[in-house]
Amino acid sequence: MLTTLVASSKGGCGKSTLVTQLASHWAQAGQNTAIVDADRQGSSYRWAGRRPDNVPGVLGLEGGRKGLQKVPSDTQQLLIDTPAGVSERELEPFIDVANVLLVPVLPSSFDLDATTHFLGELQAIKRIRNGKLPVALVANRLKPWTRASQDAVEQLAAESPFPVVAQLRDSQAYVLLAALGKGIFDYQSEQVRSHQEDWKPLLRWIKRQA
Ligand SMILES: Nc1ncnc2c1ncn2[C@@H]1O[C@H](COP(=O)(O)OP(=O)(O)OP(=O)(O)O)[C@@H](O)[C@H]1O
Ligand SMILES: [Mg+2]
Repeated sequence: MLTTLVASSKGGCGKSTLVTQLASHWAQAGQNTAIVDADRQGSSYRWAGRRPDNVPGVLGLEGGRKGLQKVPSDTQQLLIDTPAGVSERELEPFIDVANVLLVPVLPSSFDLDATTHFLGELQAIKRIRNGKLPVALVANRLKPWTRASQDAVEQLAAESPFPVVAQLRDSQAYVLLAALGKGIFDYQSEQVRSHQEDWKPLLRWIKRQA
């Protein structure tokens, strides 16, 4: 089983979006996929419950640490969604079991500033320091045609101790599909193909770590 933990100190940066989109990707690839939602808001948990019958199911589990104990043994992909402002202590049980840790970041100076502190905290964690838990940043909600977006990604890459492995565009498709319990990987149409391309470097990075 591969366990992907998604976390950030910052709210609204795309943690649940990352979790649910990756879940739709792996479910579509035929893998037994489960989400443990450690956030009381339950966005990912409810998303899994909303998945329609014509797409492969994703098992949603609530309750953070307790949810981890309910993960079926035949699970191939486990995703862990976490709340904003999570403390290092709250993250600990998930850090212990994760194989990769993803940190989404929005391209704004406030978000970059807030995330820098969080990344510093991560660096102090033993499993991360000794390379047992690889960490990657995912730049989210980019407007690739704007200078500001590109500057923010360059600044992030220059300042971060961890690699920026993907840049995801800002798109209403993510908002609309989340409401339907779906992801961009549940579709094959021309409109979502460019969106899917954005995820390829991230999927490759995760595969390499596994
Ligand atoms: N690439 C994107 N393009 C457009 N909208 C996005 C994108 N990523 C996320 N969003 C939207 O931004 C909002 C916040 O995203 P999301 O819920 O994934 O963040 P979060 O980090 O899980 O938030 P929280 O800290 O509240 O749990 C949601 O409405 C989501 O649909
Ligand atoms: Mg969330």
